[in-house]
Amino acid sequence: MGPDWRNIGNFIEDFSVTTNGLGTPANALEAARRAVDEISHYPPADFEPALTHLASFLWPEQGDTYKPMLLLGNGASELIDLVIRQAKPGKWRPGNTVTQYKEYERSAKAAGFTTTDASDASASLLCMVNPTNPTGDYMSVEAMKAYIEGTSAPGTTVIVDESMQPWIGPHWRHDSLIHQREWVARISAEKGVHVWVMTSWTKIWSCTGIRLGSVVAPNPEALLELKAKQVPWSVNCVALAFLSSVVHDEAYLASTWELTPQWNKALRTELNIHFPSWTVHGEVYLSWVWVDTHDVETTTEAVRLASAAGTPVRSAGPGYNMPTFFRIAVRDPKVTNILLGSLRRLAK
Ligand SMILES: Cc1ncc(COP(=O)(O)O)c(C=O)c1O
Repeated sequence: MGPDWRNIGNFIEDFSVTTNGLGTPANALEAARRAVDEISHYPPADFEPALTHLASFLWPEQGDTYKPMLLLGNGASELIDLVIRQAKPGKWRPGNTVTQYKEYERSAKAAGFTTTDASDASASLLCMVNPTNPTGDYMSVEAMKAYIEGTSAPGTTVIVDESMQPWIGPHWRHDSLIHQREWVARISAEKGVHVWVMTSWTKIWSCTGIRLGSVVAPNPEALLELKAKQVPWSVNCVALAFLSSVVHDEAYLASTWELTPQWNKALRTELNIHFPSWTVHGEVYLSWVWVDTHDVETTTEAVRLASAAGTPVRSAGPGYNMPTFFRIAVRDPKVTNILLGSLRRLAK
């Protein structure tokens, strides 16, 4: 929904976004508030000590080893644009899902790339989103590695966006490409296939307003080249303070892994009871569900009713050009009931 939620007079909850239903972590929010008192100073241009804190969070035993491959950005959006602009010009291709988050397409086109099919190995740029927003598909790390190796020609830049990946559970690091440093180095050296791992931190920590993302480069040299093209001080002192605090909030992640699947399943159960003809897609640990009503008018009406009730959902008509689909954020069932109540009149 982005900024539009402000224009809804009776706004209750934003079901149109993929942010964490637990809301912004309280301690990190407080740290961000305190940082506002320091806005008469520039933030550190090297992002320290927040960069070190994120490196230790990503690689608990080896933060110092891999920090030279890690860069922060003003949201993942800044880094998506930067990485795409330094890729070899030509064609770009998405992953092999029915659709995916559109920012890669926008950014690639703006940088002069033309779009080709997921199966076109002649593309010099491959951008995948895993888990995929909005379809909710997920590939395990071994399947992802096999897919990249099996479909990428030498000279390909690969971006895998893992913004939603930490939701899979406490074992998330083990199924993340962030932890596949040896494999990434090998395919870069042997095959000339360069893998960048992108993360938007604005979803799992529900902080889209402060803009916070990171990317892990295939090697330290590639990271330095990228950083040379980044505008200085692109992450402000509020976002840096938030990050330094939030990486220590283990309780928040533990609650996320406990509650999100419960709320997701509760939402699916209600949808199945009241709208048995609708199909609900996506992994159950994710912060949203992807709904196909199989009918354009029904989806249009669902989106209208949800908005009128102050509980907006995300239509997949504009943007994804899939007008029978819409996306619902996973939230506490108490507030989800208000949204479901607004849709009730569509029940057959
Ligand atoms: C998969 C994915 N990647 C990146 C982004 C952009 O994130 P940011 O807010 O960090 O720019 C989004 C936002 O919706 C997203 O869904």
